[in-house]
Amino acid sequence: MDTQNIYILAIESSCDDTAAAILKNDVVLANVVATQKIHENYGGVVPELASRAHQQNIVPVIDQAIKKAGINKSQLNGIAFTKGPGLMGSLLVGVSFAKSLAMALQIPLLEVDHMQGHLLAHFIKGASFTKPEFPFLGVTISGGHTQIVNVAEHFKMDIIGQTIDDAIGEAFDKSAKTLGLPYPGGPLIDKYAQLGNPKAFTFSKPRVPDLNFSFSGFKTAVLYFVQKQTKDNPNFIQENLHDICASIQYTLIEIIMDKIKKAVKQTGIKTIAIGGGVSANSGIRNVLLSAEKKYGWQVHIPKFEYTTDNAAMIGIVGYFKYLKKDFSDLNVTASARTKF
Ligand code: KG4
Ligand code: ZN
Repeated sequence: MDTQNIYILAIESSCDDTAAAILKNDVVLANVVATQKIHENYGGVVPELASRAHQQNIVPVIDQAIKKAGINKSQLNGIAFTKGPGLMGSLLVGVSFAKSLAMALQIPLLEVDHMQGHLLAHFIKGASFTKPEFPFLGVTISGGHTQIVNVAEHFKMDIIGQTIDDAIGEAFDKSAKTLGLPYPGGPLIDKYAQLGNPKAFTFSKPRVPDLNFSFSGFKTAVLYFVQKQTKDNPNFIQENLHDICASIQYTLIEIIMDKIKKAVKQTGIKTIAIGGGVSANSGIRNVLLSAEKKYGWQVHIPKFEYTTDNAAMIGIVGYFKYLKKDFSDLNVTASARTKF
């Protein structure tokens, strides 16, 4: 029997990705994600359809992860799952499955906060060139989240800023929708932005105090701007797509960077670790990497597969919890909102 190593099966089902991973300590042996395509037809995630798709995907996704890892179920030491935050119907699929399997295999159950997963994904072996040193500022930017967290230790973290309405990914996706681009439009805005002039159009930045964010006004500003311009010129979007995308992206990056700079000033912490789907954005990456030289920051950007929703990030948190013997009760349940 393998007594040295800890094998964790991790399950993530908080939104529209059904994901399973197998970790051997901090090494990822398998990281499987089934992205639900169905939502593309609706321009956003439809909760009812998401939970139904999780039900269909969860068994094959877990099977595939175990096969890919080349292990046997009997080797597993623990099962980690996302307790929240997320869509209740989606979370319940993962929680129920994790509980039943832990019960059947008689191994510990490890509840994981999805947001802690994004923050600790940097500690997966090989996730980025170097692991961030504590304390660091974790910046999670995605379709569901926009947060700045002061991470003092693995499980000592404090949210110091967050969105009061939409997430930054929604600002990307909803602006893209206004431009007639398919969902999720963030990657397309990124692609076209690289061909355009970021200063061609000006969108005002929201005035939100402290380290908090607001993006709902931004998407409305883009909508009104496009409506006004297309009234004068019906071909406005086609003729200016690259410049509009570059200007949208430029403003969204400025909003994020202003708050990161403020957070650095406030905390004195210059180590920045970003995560979430929007951290794939080439503009954000470039600006952050140039900030290393400009401001003397240490910037950590994990590999793409560990940055968007995935189960490996849930597994690494599960692994750290396993080491602390921080196990969950079998009557644990999902919660749409969590606090860590
Ligand atoms: O982390 P993620 O896969 O799921 C959530 O937790 O939401 O993030 C998805 C979000 C979407 O809003 C998508 O448009 C955005 O990340 N995204 C991007 C890029 N790639 C993904 N936004 C801007 N530029 C990108 N390259
Ligand atoms: Zn997420």
